[in-house]
Amino acid sequence: MNAPIVVDSVAALRAQVRDWRRAGLRVAMVPTMGALHDGHISLVRIALERAERCVVSIFVNPAQFAPTEDLDKYPRQLARDLDRLREAGAHLAFTPGVSEMYPAGFATKISVGGPSSGLETDFRPNFFDGVATVVAKLFLQAEPDCAVFGEKDYQQLCVVRQLCRDLDLPVEIVGAPTVRDAHGLAMSSRNAYLGEAELGVARQLNVILRRTAAALSDGADEAAATEDAAKALVSAGFRKVDYVAARAGVTLAPWQRNRNGRLLAAAWLGTTRLIDNVEIPSA
Ligand code: PAJ
Repeated sequence: MNAPIVVDSVAALRAQVRDWRRAGLRVAMVPTMGALHDGHISLVRIALERAERCVVSIFVNPAQFAPTEDLDKYPRQLARDLDRLREAGAHLAFTPGVSEMYPAGFATKISVGGPSSGLETDFRPNFFDGVATVVAKLFLQAEPDCAVFGEKDYQQLCVVRQLCRDLDLPVEIVGAPTVRDAHGLAMSSRNAYLGEAELGVARQLNVILRRTAAALSDGADEAAATEDAAKALVSAGFRKVDYVAARAGVTLAPWQRNRNGRLLAAAWLGTTRLIDNVEIPSA
């Protein structure tokens, strides 16, 4: 595979994408914060099934980190990321610096309602404003036909769909299944923070979620089942559980029994915060 073109300015990105579009090529985008793993690469593969050209952005977006969060220690490994993108066949890596995305005087914020309420927002109040603002900018800069987002960040996927609908952004949003390790642990750049013993505990997250989703489908009481799941996470070794919650798919409104739903959780392992979610099949 050819190495991807690497550009770090909006002008160069626009020029390349416009050339492709003039040539009649469909363009897909995969927004990331880098430290690419097999989960990200699966999005590139899906993008390449839907378009002739794939743009991957790599930008650790300060606007979605709270001052207390891991912006400074978030893994950055551009050379390795570019190797992985070459192997995967991505055509362009957009790697802007902070001043390219947020020049001095930048003063706009996009705040999506609906699916952004509750769950992550209860614990990271400015997170989705930061995500929505940067994703809207990336879409306006690259003007892709479609963009691929992982179900791993299920609430983010719902917020991005709402953003595009509400702002008439002409980008088709494609959801991609969560890629997991052999033990079911969802791949995450933050797994790099975990030691061997912590990885063993982390792998319990999806086991407990799957068990709880099955119990809900089988008629278990929602409040009792989600509370039991939170207790089971603490018994397994998680330090603190932010939430375990059943929601309707897409809107993230309260879950209704006999409807398809999603069971979502966030929990702390030492100083690392992990999230995951599974489907609650309708009975
Ligand atoms: P990041 O955490 O790097 O994730 C980039 C994309 O990869 C997201 O769509 C995420 O859902 C997807 N992804 C992560 N782990 C995955 C897994 N195990 N399986 C499948 N997909 C997975 O999410 C962000 O970056 C940022 O918030 C961003 C959207 C780039 C805005 O800054």
